[in-house]
Amino acid sequence: KLALAAAAGLAAAGAAALPEGDPRRGERAYVKCYGCHSLEPGQSANGPSLHGIVGKPVASDPAYPYSEALRRLAARQPRWTPELLDRFIADSEAVAPGTDMGFFVRTDVQERADLIAYLGRSGD
Ligand code: HEC
Repeated sequence: KLALAAAAGLAAAGAAALPEGDPRRGERAYVKCYGCHSLEPGQSANGPSLHGIVGKPVASDPAYPYSEALRRLAARQPRWTPELLDRFIADSEAVAPGTDMGFFVRTDVQERADLIAYLGRSGD
């Protein structure tokens, strides 16, 4: 019984891991990304365009030469779900070891939810 309650607690904690995002705050947080990422479709800079990235297939910008690490991730994880984006932004190296985005952009969980809410609108 106790174990079950603990498991339920864990599941609830997991569900709560992604708070409600605010796209307007996300737009401000995007200053941490825009030096490398355009939001225009197909326009790659230092990094691939993040146009419509939420729900998009991983490593699918035809204009960008992805690393092996990101291609391997795409083979395991077909799409950028909000959860996968949250994990990648939090620790890209843990999700895609050897990635060319293998540095630490400091964000907290609320900022990531805001960023994902903002990025979720970029495909409109
Ligand atoms: C210093 C440059 C740089 C910054 C800053 C940066 N990125 Fe990246 N990002 C990259 C590079 C380079 C790649 C390609 C990685 C690879 O091929 O391994 C990438 C890949 C990505 C991808 C995968 C895209 C796809 O097409 O599958 C996402 C999502 C992403 N970055 C999100 C972000 C977010 C959100 C931020 C801001 C919090 C950010 N990045 C900040 C350089 C950067």
